[in-house]
Amino acid sequence: MQVIDGEKLIIEIDQLKTKYGADRSALMPILQNLQDKYKYLPPKILQETAHALNIHPVEVEGVASFYSFFNTGDKQGKYVIRLCQTISCDLVGKTNVARQLENELQIKFGESTKDGRFTLEYTNCLGMCDQGPALMINDRLFAKVTPDRIPQIIHDCRKDFVKSDFPKVVPSDVKKTGPILSHGVKPGDALRKALTMKRVEIISNLRESGLKGRGGAGFPTSTKWQLAGAAQSDQKFVVCNADEGEPGTFKDRFLLYEHTDILLDGMTTAAYVIKAQKGYIYLRGEYLYMKKFLEEALETRRKNNLLGENILANKDFNFDIEIRMGAGAYVCGEETALIESLEGNRGEPRNRPPFPVDTGFLGRPTVVNNVETFIAAALINEKGPKWFNEHGTDKSKGTKIFSISGDCKNQGIYELPYGITVREMLKEVGGENAKAVQVGGASGHCIPPKDFDRKIAYEDVGSGGSIIIFGPDTDILEVAKNFLEFFVEESCGQCTPCRNGNPKLLEGIEMLQNGRCSVSYLNELEKLGETMQISSKCGLGQSSPNAFLSIIKNFKPDILGRVPEKD
Ligand code: FES
Repeated sequence: MQVIDGEKLIIEIDQLKTKYGADRSALMPILQNLQDKYKYLPPKILQETAHALNIHPVEVEGVASFYSFFNTGDKQGKYVIRLCQTISCDLVGKTNVARQLENELQIKFGESTKDGRFTLEYTNCLGMCDQGPALMINDRLFAKVTPDRIPQIIHDCRKDFVKSDFPKVVPSDVKKTGPILSHGVKPGDALRKALTMKRVEIISNLRESGLKGRGGAGFPTSTKWQLAGAAQSDQKFVVCNADEGEPGTFKDRFLLYEHTDILLDGMTTAAYVIKAQKGYIYLRGEYLYMKKFLEEALETRRKNNLLGENILANKDFNFDIEIRMGAGAYVCGEETALIESLEGNRGEPRNRPPFPVDTGFLGRPTVVNNVETFIAAALINEKGPKWFNEHGTDKSKGTKIFSISGDCKNQGIYELPYGITVREMLKEVGGENAKAVQVGGASGHCIPPKDFDRKIAYEDVGSGGSIIIFGPDTDILEVAKNFLEFFVEESCGQCTPCRNGNPKLLEGIEMLQNGRCSVSYLNELEKLGETMQISSKCGLGQSSPNAFLSIIKNFKPDILGRVPEKD
């Protein structure tokens, strides 16, 4: 067992404090750096960090134990292999890949090899759902992994990926572009234009365009920026929610990498409008491989005076952006949980009101938008509201970037207008014989064929962008089970309906699988799901029963009276 040199550790923590700050908001990056070095976070590290940041050690332990990428148990191997266990990867052979990994390494999931080189873990969606099965090894993603490729992957790991044929960045598969994805705007141009305008003009452009938050909740972006702009404070913040963790979503991975400058233009425009001095990109831990790339993009913008002091020669417009990494917690996609995480806390959603536009990061007014929203906002300002709102429906303006995976001919990223029906979408992607379509990821709705003429729009079936198609042979109970396992794992546990409700629903699925569930009990579970929808504290618990409820409502003949294989 490695002995940690206490004096050296104190010096290291001091250096990290110099880099990230001496307050609690530095906790996450400090723990991430220490785990990176020591491969685990034993009590000694937690205690010294607590002491250095003047936080009670129990609280630091509480944070470290909350995030799945932090490891307070045994030391991990040099390479941590995380295999995606979420639905799209599950449907295309994750189990066979898992078996082969165990065979090659001679360990089980949750274990490390004796030589200290490898740890095997399951993880949730890696944002590669159209290219599954997917796995992540430290900061590398691997797509379309098949069991026969495992020996080569392990071999390259042993050689530290020197001369490896595996690409560091897996390209995204864009199948259809539209006005947003083919914008053609040069880096900085959208910001240049914004800085020639009055703040109210920018807000009025956004209002006229009808842009609503692209994460799914659909709050008008103009209102959010206006409220944060009107709030009185000595400090304000702009935060980009780059924590797309909804199973089946992978479009932000593409946008962050291929449309970086227009995103940064959008964030900087928001800063100009609300008078913020500091911005953060909260990047999900699964996208660690992108951190260096984004940091370089930020540095280039600093050199070009698109970030920093007196931006584009505008006196007193000072704004800079820092990247903060998430650590494997789906709930941090909820904006108040994300803010808690940025502040160095467990990612537990806050009660609202107060809202982040008033009381956000460090209690200051904060605009939190997702990647796609910032990009759309920058483009709307550059090209005008009509360019945007000539697409879509009355209540859902513009086009939407979708991540489409599952049983169809052409999985990938599509830009399509809001208001498209499920049927039209299936035709577009070659999935016409679908048995069901999950719109909105695990927290969305499972749409049966009789509803394929429903529209994908805020006013009908809403979606943050995830579409998963299930073919005729899909066992729909397995789908429900996979989603509920996901929610049982990802619930932050703060409120009772979500903490206790999800395991109860999962238990019901297992009873159905065993052919041991009466209709009256199923009705009880339905009531439980509905109670969770109205009484859970945040969006996670409110939406986690959606798929379960739509499946038991629409697929009864499929799920009742099953005879288990062993009977
Ligand atoms: Fe596996 Fe998204 S990467 S389901």
